[in-house]
Amino acid sequence: MPLQLKPLHPLFCAQASGIDITQPLSETDLKAINTAMNKYGVLVWRGQPLTAQQQLNFSQSFGPLDIGLKRVFQRKERLEDERLIDISNVDAQGNVAGRDSPKNLSNFANQLWHSDSSFMKPRAAYSMLHALVTPSWGGNTEFADLRAAYDALPQRTRDEIQDLQAEHFALHTRLLLGDDAYTEDQKKAIPPAVWPLSDTHPGSGRKVLFVGVHARQIIGWPVAESRMYLMDLLEHATQRPFVYTHEWEEGDLVIWDNRSTLHRGRRYDIAERRELRRTTINDTPEAQLMAS
Ligand code: OGA
Ligand code: MN
Repeated sequence: MPLQLKPLHPLFCAQASGIDITQPLSETDLKAINTAMNKYGVLVWRGQPLTAQQQLNFSQSFGPLDIGLKRVFQRKERLEDERLIDISNVDAQGNVAGRDSPKNLSNFANQLWHSDSSFMKPRAAYSMLHALVTPSWGGNTEFADLRAAYDALPQRTRDEIQDLQAEHFALHTRLLLGDDAYTEDQKKAIPPAVWPLSDTHPGSGRKVLFVGVHARQIIGWPVAESRMYLMDLLEHATQRPFVYTHEWEEGDLVIWDNRSTLHRGRRYDIAERRELRRTTINDTPEAQLMAS
């Protein structure tokens, strides 16, 4: 069966079906998924339980996989393959992590609006998040459409951001959350990355307002003025009409394009288990070619 799509929001996001994503993808299916990603930015697949290996196989059809912040932390992880990112509140021993654990700190950082790995060059292209265990309440993931955000900017702001660049830093969210015990080596492990605020999405050619909480500075601007402007732009980009809320069911796989959307997790009871598994594609020229 060919790919079926059902829009989930007036501006972006669709539910995808018709393709068995546990199996190797044909060229036709791969093309259809990329075309849909370029249009919708977020695709939701329901009822497709994937083993870790199936998720890796599926993800690798779209480009090389990223390991993100594991470069900095190098702590013992529950999932053995470093290309699998453990988005859970479970510690390396398999128990629900303590309230003030590093695991929960990462989860709280994920509750700020962001684009995965925008603090790196290359940044992330697609992320694939698969739900294994969902808590009894909360724990939704929200997505915001950065193309709609750009389209809704007043001309004055479009002109103002035309040539502005923002510096994105890996540890900025953690510093915001009061976690500042980093060694100089850790701070240097991922040097900041600079991206235009007024960007063009490679897959669709549409303009994007590329903001997010990793952005800490506008190049050439004073710090306070930069941060206020970045906060204003982020507030604009994440207005309710630009947001889709995903309520997780076990066996869901959600794919999003980090170059055209932002996302954030939402609160839940951290005494309950929440387990998801992520894979992320690096936005290399090879990945762009595979997605074209
Ligand atoms: C992620 C992420 C949010 C969530 O996996 O990249 O930001 O809801 N997750 O867990
Ligand atoms: Mn994320």
